[in-house]
Amino acid sequence: MHSIIIFASGAGSNAQAIINYLKQHPIGKVSLIVCNKPNAGVLDIAAVENIPTLIIDKTSFNDTTFITTLAQHQPSLIVLAGFLWKIPGGVVQFFSNKIINIHPSLLPKYGGKNMYGQRVHQAVIAANEKTSGITIHYVNEVYDEGEIIVQAHCSVRADDTPETLSQRIHQLEHFYFPRTLHFLLEHYKS
Ligand code: GRF
Repeated sequence: MHSIIIFASGAGSNAQAIINYLKQHPIGKVSLIVCNKPNAGVLDIAAVENIPTLIIDKTSFNDTTFITTLAQHQPSLIVLAGFLWKIPGGVVQFFSNKIINIHPSLLPKYGGKNMYGQRVHQAVIAANEKTSGITIHYVNEVYDEGEIIVQAHCSVRADDTPETLSQRIHQLEHFYFPRTLHFLLEHYKS
């Protein structure tokens, strides 16, 4: 059984989708949820699902004991699902090719440091795009620039608001993220 660590600091709907999927397809188990917001919704999910959590701050995040703690879980994958801090270089190197992120646009468009959450959808609508989507990619040391694994598209409608577009994007995420994880774990080489 593969061990998966999720980093999330938001509502956690993607974390929930992954947890639910793994109940139906028990190829792996979420062994830890790492979070930098003590009041994040994902922590309520972790409590209900009985998954251990680790709350981090900027100092502990860059500490070498952080890598040791993660390594104790022997993760096959570290999954960023709504996690905004840049992953320290030491962590990226230690878990090279094991960290993946989901971004709510078709990268390289609408990516980078300040492009997250509703800002992405606002920018997509303001640019009059007809199509948006999601990108699942490996994490390297530059925001949103690691190798792309999968992209999925959806339409942007004339009457879309950032909220309605965000809902459509979340549906894509909840479908593709767990299935991409499944694919990667099936083809996993340690
Ligand atoms: C998702 O839209 C994801 O693409 C982005 O952050 C959001 C997290 O949403 N990285 P949730 O917390 O999983 O609901």
